[in-house]
Amino acid sequence: MFSSQTNSMLAAKVIILLVVITGVYIILLISRPVIHENSTMLVAPKSRNVREEQIRLFALNEIVKANSHVSPQYKMVNCVVQKSMSTMMTGAMCYLYNETQYEQSGRNFDDEFSGRFCKDTNEFKSVTGVREAFNISYVKTDWSFSMVTRDPIDRFVSGFVDRCVRLQQRNGTTQCNGCGLNMTCFIETEYKHLMEISFKRKTHRTMEDAHFFPQVWHCDLNEEVEFFEFIQYSSNADDNLMPQFDDLLQRQKVPRRSRDFIRNQLVYQKSSHSTTGTPAKRFYYSRQVLKKNQGFDCVFQIDEVTVPIGVYCQDVLLRFPSVSL
Ligand SMILES: *[C@@H]1O[C@H](CO)[C@@H](O)[C@H](O)[C@H]1NC(C)=O
Ligand SMILES: *[C@@H]1O[C@H](CO)[C@@H](O)[C@H](O)[C@H]1NC(C)=O
Ligand SMILES: *[C@@H]1O[C@H](CO)[C@@H](O)[C@H](O)[C@H]1NC(C)=O
Ligand SMILES: *[C@@H]1O[C@H](CO)[C@@H](O)[C@H](O)[C@H]1NC(C)=O
Repeated sequence: MFSSQTNSMLAAKVIILLVVITGVYIILLISRPVIHENSTMLVAPKSRNVREEQIRLFALNEIVKANSHVSPQYKMVNCVVQKSMSTMMTGAMCYLYNETQYEQSGRNFDDEFSGRFCKDTNEFKSVTGVREAFNISYVKTDWSFSMVTRDPIDRFVSGFVDRCVRLQQRNGTTQCNGCGLNMTCFIETEYKHLMEISFKRKTHRTMEDAHFFPQVWHCDLNEEVEFFEFIQYSSNADDNLMPQFDDLLQRQKVPRRSRDFIRNQLVYQKSSHSTTGTPAKRFYYSRQVLKKNQGFDCVFQIDEVTVPIGVYCQDVLLRFPSVSL
């Protein structure tokens, strides 16, 4: 009897130990950074030859070398990408470039939309350029490289509403690949266009491209991705974006006062051209079925029409908690 009790106690201990080990393993699995060596495998599609297209895309170098904004004082580089808080991040980086000057100007971050205060002062066309200018090593460095990333479908819809719907309403003309308000048509033509660019059959860029290029096409990410920290976009900055950004700012030793200024701007001075909650956007979300594909096929499903968007698959590399694109 005594030994059976010991046995059952032993068994209980073993079970507890197993549970703990499993728990730790699961936690490790969950918290493990999404960007790791094999992450390209995650987006391997089942059909078409999108996989090959993706590799081709990721091998690209010259596509978008735009908009790295730098704050040398705090050793920060931020890759500003359209439709991912670009105006607000432009403002934040300009502010951090010289807080006194920015505050004296009496500007709000939102003002950067119509004219950038730091134009040509803290802006670089490539991360390589920044590295050269500030002699930033690839090995160990106290510089921070960051980028706000947004759910690719969310970003696409926002871009479409911005470029194709609102512009149309405002001045009666849009380029939008001649598709008018037909989103299916636009996705198909833009996808084709992006593929042509990636295969270098076409170098012509349209007004839309900067908004619709996948996020991974920006800021030399094909080479620099491992050095970057990705901050998740949230339409309400206080939800997700600001806590992460504030943590980064603290690490870069940005003083409390400056962090408060930034938070105030990001949270309370909502960007005036933001599409969140606009009637146009609600319309598109309600009418169109935007399906996040579960099987890594990388398609948009709109009103029963399936449109391949392999070109956006790679954005999954940028770590979106809720996206299973
Ligand atoms: C920031 O701007 C102020 C006001 O224009 C100027 O006096 C100061 O030297 C600038 N600081 C730096 C570090 O450039
Ligand atoms: C650049 O940094 C490296 C160390 O990271 C240093 O050895 C080198 O002298 C620096 N070059 C310049 C021009 O400052
Ligand atoms: C309409 O918007 C486009 C794109 O911003 C602009 O280039 C064009 O000048 C605008 N047209 C009018 C009539 O405002
Ligand atoms: C929208 O575009 C798609 C693809 O080009 C086409 O098949 C469809 O008929 C268009 N829908 C309308 C309402 O024009």
